[in-house]
Amino acid sequence: MGGKTMTACFAVALLLCAVGEVASAFVDGLLPNGNFEYGPKKSELINGTVVVDPRAIPRWELTGFVEYIESGHRQGDMLLVVPEGYYAVRLGNEASIKQKLNATVGLTYCITFSAARTCAQEEKLNITGSGDSGVIPIQTMYSSNGWDSYGFCFKATSPVMEVVIHNPGVEEDPACGPLIDSVAAKVLYPPRPSKLNVLKNGGFEEGPYVFPNTSWGVLIPPNIEDDNCPLPAWTVESLKAVKYIDSVHFAVPQGKRAVELVAGRESAIAQVARTIVGKTYRLTFAVGDASNACAGSMVVEAFAGKDTVKVPYESKGKGGFKRAVLTFVATATRTRIVFFSTFYHTRSDDFSSLCGPVIDDVKLLSLRKP
Ligand SMILES: *[C@@H]1O[C@H](CO)[C@@H](O)[C@H](O)[C@H]1NC(C)=O
Ligand SMILES: *[C@@H]1O[C@H](CO)[C@@H](O)[C@H](O)[C@H]1NC(C)=O
Ligand SMILES: *[C@@H]1O[C@H](CO)[C@@H](O)[C@H](O)[C@H]1NC(C)=O
Ligand SMILES: *[C@@H]1O[C@H](CO)[C@@H](O)[C@H](O)[C@H]1NC(C)=O
Repeated sequence: MGGKTMTACFAVALLLCAVGEVASAFVDGLLPNGNFEYGPKKSELINGTVVVDPRAIPRWELTGFVEYIESGHRQGDMLLVVPEGYYAVRLGNEASIKQKLNATVGLTYCITFSAARTCAQEEKLNITGSGDSGVIPIQTMYSSNGWDSYGFCFKATSPVMEVVIHNPGVEEDPACGPLIDSVAAKVLYPPRPSKLNVLKNGGFEEGPYVFPNTSWGVLIPPNIEDDNCPLPAWTVESLKAVKYIDSVHFAVPQGKRAVELVAGRESAIAQVARTIVGKTYRLTFAVGDASNACAGSMVVEAFAGKDTVKVPYESKGKGGFKRAVLTFVATATRTRIVFFSTFYHTRSDDFSSLCGPVIDDVKLLSLRKP
């Protein structure tokens, strides 16, 4: 871990030096034309939306059936809205969009993008960076307007990192692919261990880029290789995503970020802590709600190795939190800390939107005396 942190610091120093010389060094935020505001003229689109020239959208390279969609476009009885600016792209079967980033080898780059399902049932997206790829399902909707943002990270293995978003779907109607808007990137640094917490990134302050203007957080898909999890030091286990939320749009117990457990027992987050056998430890954390109309009787289950605690929390959906404690004696040199929500919840203003309890400010300390 120490070695990793050193490497990152060294890389930061290099990056800072580079900024002086190369005006185009990487900056966290939207990629150039990452919200597709620059694109072909209406007259260049076939059948109103289809882009034929693979270079017609500045900074991007397209393959396959890609449509350029203006906010307010109608498809059947569906009105397509665009979260940022006025334009988005739609990826048909096997279509993809690609952009090259200038990267620093060895650093982790996290891509955040917004996507919306249109008419297909089982939509998926295949995200590639530095030759590594992962397929994320986008059939479960978490936000009420149909758009969700996703975070996905890659370690740069060359100074030019190709980011590809590809629709591997095979639908009968090629126009049934997902819409994509707002593609951003952020460099993630390995969190430092501290004397005040055996766990790293316990407050979830380090995580994927969150769009300043989108009010639905960022979904972190499950089962991504540990090193590349958008929540440094944590892994998202089991089957479904967790949601990364920001204090601008949600109630957050501490700091600027927290995690909402949006899919019951199907979404858990975990971290393995170094512990000393026989020592007594105290795990403390905050359980609350995000002030997103997610009301009801919630329970968060926390595990530290074989020890567990169930923390009930009555949510009115208006924000608030309580603190919880789990005291345990370590039985191994590595103790797995896991959190999940016992129940599924949906928003009281939109029963199709999954939501759940929020956890934050997770601390693990050894006690001097049991
Ligand atoms: C990447 O770096 C090259 C030169 O090193 C520069 O010409 C190019 O504009 C940069 N690209 C981006 C997206 O900043
Ligand atoms: C345009 O629409 C026509 C009629 O639906 C279709 O045959 C043709 O393939 C479409 N062109 C493109 C480029 O999608
Ligand atoms: C995902 O995309 C990458 C390259 O863009 C490709 O090599 C890989 O086979 C794709 N995976 C799936 C499941 O389509
Ligand atoms: C966010 O919204 C504000 C106010 O509506 C607007 O001025 C700003 O340009 C938006 N920022 C982005 C990145 O879209």
